[in-house]
Amino acid sequence: MKLALPRLRTAALALLFAAGLMAAGADPLAPTATWSAYTAGRAATPPMGWSSWNAFGTDIDEHKVLGAAQSLVDQGLAAKGYRYINIDDGWWLQRRLSDGMLIIRTERFPSTQQANGTPSFRSFTDRLHAMGLKAGIYTDLGRNSCSQAYSPDDTDLPKGSVLEREVGLYGHTQQDIALFFETWGFDYIKVDGCGLRAFGADAEKVRSGKYRELKPALDMDSVARSDIAAVQQQFRDIHNALVKSNPDGDFVLSLCVWGAGNVRAWGKDFGNLSRTSDDITPSWSRMLTNFDSAAKRAFYAHPGSWNDPDMLFIGKGEFDAKHLTEARSHFSLWAMLNAPLFIGMDMRKAPESLVELLGNRELIALNQDAAGHQATLAYDSHDVQILVKTLSSGDKAVAIFNRTAAPADVELQAAHLKLRADADVELLDLWSGQQRRLRGQMKLKLAAHETLVFKARGTRVLADGLYLSEQPGNVNPAVDGVVQPMPDPTLHRSAKGWQGTRGSGERPIYAGWGGVQADSAPYGEALSLNGKRYETGIGSLANSRLEVRNHGYRRFSATVGVNDSARDAASTATFAVYGDGKLLATSRALKWGDSGEPITADVSGVKLIELVVRATTPDAAALPVTWADAALLAK
Ligand code: GLA
Repeated sequence: MKLALPRLRTAALALLFAAGLMAAGADPLAPTATWSAYTAGRAATPPMGWSSWNAFGTDIDEHKVLGAAQSLVDQGLAAKGYRYINIDDGWWLQRRLSDGMLIIRTERFPSTQQANGTPSFRSFTDRLHAMGLKAGIYTDLGRNSCSQAYSPDDTDLPKGSVLEREVGLYGHTQQDIALFFETWGFDYIKVDGCGLRAFGADAEKVRSGKYRELKPALDMDSVARSDIAAVQQQFRDIHNALVKSNPDGDFVLSLCVWGAGNVRAWGKDFGNLSRTSDDITPSWSRMLTNFDSAAKRAFYAHPGSWNDPDMLFIGKGEFDAKHLTEARSHFSLWAMLNAPLFIGMDMRKAPESLVELLGNRELIALNQDAAGHQATLAYDSHDVQILVKTLSSGDKAVAIFNRTAAPADVELQAAHLKLRADADVELLDLWSGQQRRLRGQMKLKLAAHETLVFKARGTRVLADGLYLSEQPGNVNPAVDGVVQPMPDPTLHRSAKGWQGTRGSGERPIYAGWGGVQADSAPYGEALSLNGKRYETGIGSLANSRLEVRNHGYRRFSATVGVNDSARDAASTATFAVYGDGKLLATSRALKWGDSGEPITADVSGVKLIELVVRATTPDAAALPVTWADAALLAK
């Protein structure tokens, strides 16, 4: 017999189910007064450096890696911030079965040889440290690595028996992390996930007995077939091991599960940088895919928890010295997104023009700006995009990006920058060094694939405060209301991946559709309440909780309501503002068609504001709600 639950309880349960929280038992929308995105480690600004992967694949050796390090120092790039020298896949020979010790390919890294027969990277990392650099290493969540998964003919793969070739972290997390950080002296770890993706019972390499089966916990094509809780638990274990091995906190944790398993929504809670897509290739089209995977995820990145659209491919293919326009665009976009900047070419042979490009101080300064606000899209189309980033100085950076292979005419408006149209805006072109002035708007001509980047100073539309959509680095969607993660269909789908046109093409695979957006409703629709358009604000789904760090502002204000884009006209939602865990303001229950309701709260002295929207009717999943004109004000 079914138990008849009281109505209220049923509604509450529906809400908990909706938020996917039954298992945890807690109310995810209850204020916590704590910032929950990742802040451990050392990534207050996006990490910068060099990685061996795009330059050499698994064909690496000591000369190549130390050569890159020496070049960065000699070329002045190290002094400009490129500090991490990361060894990617290919360094390992095998795991010693007697004690689980990882053995390095000593013929490639001769300095790792030791009298006792057990190789160590210690003198190698000592050399990097003596050069003023930091050292990074690569591993995998599973038993095996990505090259073992996808490059069966690679001659640089680990050697030995099935068990000896199991070089990944699986079952060895504590031991390996202690080895990397305590014994060998590394400072940075990239954790790939192919071992959790490619070794299912039906894989040829498993059936043939070459590798052991590990039930896949990550499925690129299906969030539902990914065991997200298991993957998260592994990252938690890795974090704990890192903290244990690094009492001074000097580590960087790089998550590399390529946008799978809905990681674009939760990577920010588990590591310092998190890959938002599969691998970049040196092609314009593929670069667009990787850029798109991070471009609309500004709220999912903060100081200490950055979106990673993958390493730079400047120096190869369509980004080599013969394609300076494309190379500059690639660099400009990564700078605006606060992407980690990892050079991926053989720096010993780097042409002067590319050394200069990578050393552009102004662009580096945008990327490394202390406020940590990823650029948001002020104008969006498949042809041209305008990205705007708020700097810690209060100035803006704006990138005008021509995605197409034809020249483009663009009108840049002061309004794109949230600057007043009736006052001058001083612009500094960060590629040419030219100064320009804009009043109201200005016409620009862009060459094919060109990106113009300006630093801009003008008069702010909001004189005494900052809109929340201008400060995504301070806003964390702790709960974003997405209950059934769906792939974002708007990402560029490239025919220039490693797969070429084999198969049926890349389908929408990167979950995150419907996430929290700046100046836009979820799903890319306009912010609008009862027919009134808002150019500024945060668009979210109901049953969400946003954490907002307050750096000394006194008042929060917004106009709230159910967005006009809602397909569901009956459901209602209430909006609440908390300050350090205490309720400061609420709205009445609002539904589609209601005019926006002003909401304001005194936040003087408050460190953490939480913006909570609760659907007050069951079955209200995916109800788009709007914090229009949401701002922190000085008075
Ligand atoms: C995966 C990662 C790459 C690189 C390779 C190494 O494909 O996404 O960045 O580390 O593995 O095999």
